[in-house]
Amino acid sequence: MKGAKKAFELTPEGDRYFDGMADKFARSLYDAPRGALRLALLDALLPEMLTFDQQPVLDVGGGLGQQAAWFARRGHAVTLAEPSGDMLACAQREIEGQEAIKARVRYVQAPLQRLSQVAPGPWALITCHAVLEWLGDPRAALYQLSQRLAPGGQLSLMVFNRDALRFSNVVKGNMHKALSDELEGLGKGQRLTPISPLTHAQIEQWSGEVGLTLAHVAGIRIFQDYLREPAATQAQRSTLFALEKAYARVDPHWRLGRYLLYTLIKTA
Ligand SMILES: C[S@@+](CC[C@H](N)C(=O)[O-])C[C@H]1O[C@@H](n2cnc3c(N)ncnc32)[C@H](O)[C@@H]1O
Repeated sequence: MKGAKKAFELTPEGDRYFDGMADKFARSLYDAPRGALRLALLDALLPEMLTFDQQPVLDVGGGLGQQAAWFARRGHAVTLAEPSGDMLACAQREIEGQEAIKARVRYVQAPLQRLSQVAPGPWALITCHAVLEWLGDPRAALYQLSQRLAPGGQLSLMVFNRDALRFSNVVKGNMHKALSDELEGLGKGQRLTPISPLTHAQIEQWSGEVGLTLAHVAGIRIFQDYLREPAATQAQRSTLFALEKAYARVDPHWRLGRYLLYTLIKTA
């Protein structure tokens, strides 16, 4: 039908692969100030929150490959696992254009649920950023990630924060939505509202259940989404970054970060 939008479907497991979404995802996140802020904060926080010794990295649901490229630039061998062929092709195109790192990254088209077959590890370092909120069963996914870690291994986990989503809905005037607490996206349209936003309480509880110890937590974008006026000039953006960085790991500010970033350690 003319003008009809493609209806994106969930997998039988209830997951939302980003097939057909690569352009939109790149535009709406990484070409926008919030994407730049996320990357800048990760660049500042990951070296504080993780211990690096050139260990190989498994990046799960690696999307367009920014995180994989970041690790490769720091000398790590990276396995980028991603179920969406579109996203994986974009990531590969982007990384293969970078002579200095292209040999360090390998690509695996697979969902998290198939990692035991295609990238069993055990891994000393796994990253899984902004993926669990797109899954039908994020709790089972955390177990599967834990199973792939070596004893003492580190999981860098970032999840979309359900409590922050409620708060931002109120700020935007969507009061009925906030009051009814119906915050989950359907995952079927073009909209990028996650189907399984998560709370810190859930991550704390589930981590304990699957043998992961919480070593560090931070909030990503704790202020930006609540600004009355967006930071318009470079000077304003620099000041905002300084604020985000200064309070990302300070209680109570981290608790309302748009994303929660964790370092979880596999109990030996
Ligand atoms: C919001 S994007 C995040 C991409 C990247 N990690 C980042 O931070 O930019 C979510 C990604 O999770 C992927 N995904 C969806 N279901 C998945 C699954 N079952 N296993 C692994 N990745 C999945 C999607 O295809 C998409 O690329």
